[in-house]
Amino acid sequence: MTDMKNESSAGPSAWERDLHAHLTSHVAIERGMLEEYRSAAEASTSKAFKYLVDLLIEDEIRHHQIFLDLADSLETFALKPGTDPKIPNLDFNQTNQDAILELTEQLLEKEQEDALELKRLQRELRDVKNTSLWGLLVDLMERDTQKHIAILNFAKKNVGRRKR
Ligand SMILES: [Fe+2]
Ligand SMILES: [Fe+2]
Repeated sequence: MTDMKNESSAGPSAWERDLHAHLTSHVAIERGMLEEYRSAAEASTSKAFKYLVDLLIEDEIRHHQIFLDLADSLETFALKPGTDPKIPNLDFNQTNQDAILELTEQLLEKEQEDALELKRLQRELRDVKNTSLWGLLVDLMERDTQKHIAILNFAKKNVGRRKR
């Protein structure tokens, strides 16, 4: 049977084998982080600390899942060409590009407004910056908003590419 460790010519390429080993080791690292955060949350009696660790756990669960999806998609790419991978192939140019582009631009505008709104909110929270978690949480949402803008910019760039 062919697997991702098969070094014969029927198996995956050296690049695919190395990348797969790299991705699966990351899966293990992310799982380890997740377990450490879980025991940290249990070990502390601070509700504030537990709240923060729960936020980190949410991210680590997502990271773990993304690494699993990457490894799985690489396996599909290497061993089952023609099958739909877990992480979809970039199919923007086979879709209704104009509609996607318009929608993406609208969403980008909303995210940019959101970024300004969060900045205003952050200024209002200045007085409780060091005595509550609120300022930190708004800061995290500002970072999330930058992430959302990066996602939408990726879509915008790649949807538009074949058009002109
Ligand atoms: Fe992580
Ligand atoms: Fe957003």
